[in-house]
Amino acid sequence: MSDSTSTRAGLSDAALAELEKLGKRYPTREALLLPALWMVQQEHGWISQESMLYLAELLDVSPVRVYGVVSFYHMFHDRPPGRYNIQVCHTLSCSLRGAEAILSRLQERLGIGHHEVTADGRFMVTRVECLGACEHAPVCQINEDFEFDLTPEKLEAKLEQLP
Ligand code: FES
Repeated sequence: MSDSTSTRAGLSDAALAELEKLGKRYPTREALLLPALWMVQQEHGWISQESMLYLAELLDVSPVRVYGVVSFYHMFHDRPPGRYNIQVCHTLSCSLRGAEAILSRLQERLGIGHHEVTADGRFMVTRVECLGACEHAPVCQINEDFEFDLTPEKLEAKLEQLP
């Protein structure tokens, strides 16, 4: 690709240059897979099958390997996410302090299940493992922002405030 914008599935020239720079510090091309996936997601919002094939060729790894990594990590999206990605922790501390009630209320209110997006494309709900803030359980993350010491009511109020 000769221009500075990314293709529909690939990386921009700037991202490719950054990846090549990183490559000097990594032992193998395959080791660049995680940063490359981040870059694709940053540039496209999600990681399509086309993008997975693109990265497989770029990094000389099998497409199955790329798909395996995308499907393993909940922070990678293999479909377009909602405008607001609501990730609710359901690991032990959060579970003991009401995560299931929060998830139930949320899914009932939005009418969607785990990893689904509302018809208007506004919200996606994902059930995730520990978000690393157990002392504030139950916890959720809405895009980049954390919400601590949640209750179903607090989360509903938060959703009302979102633009
Ligand atoms: S268990 Fe939920 S943040 Fe750690």
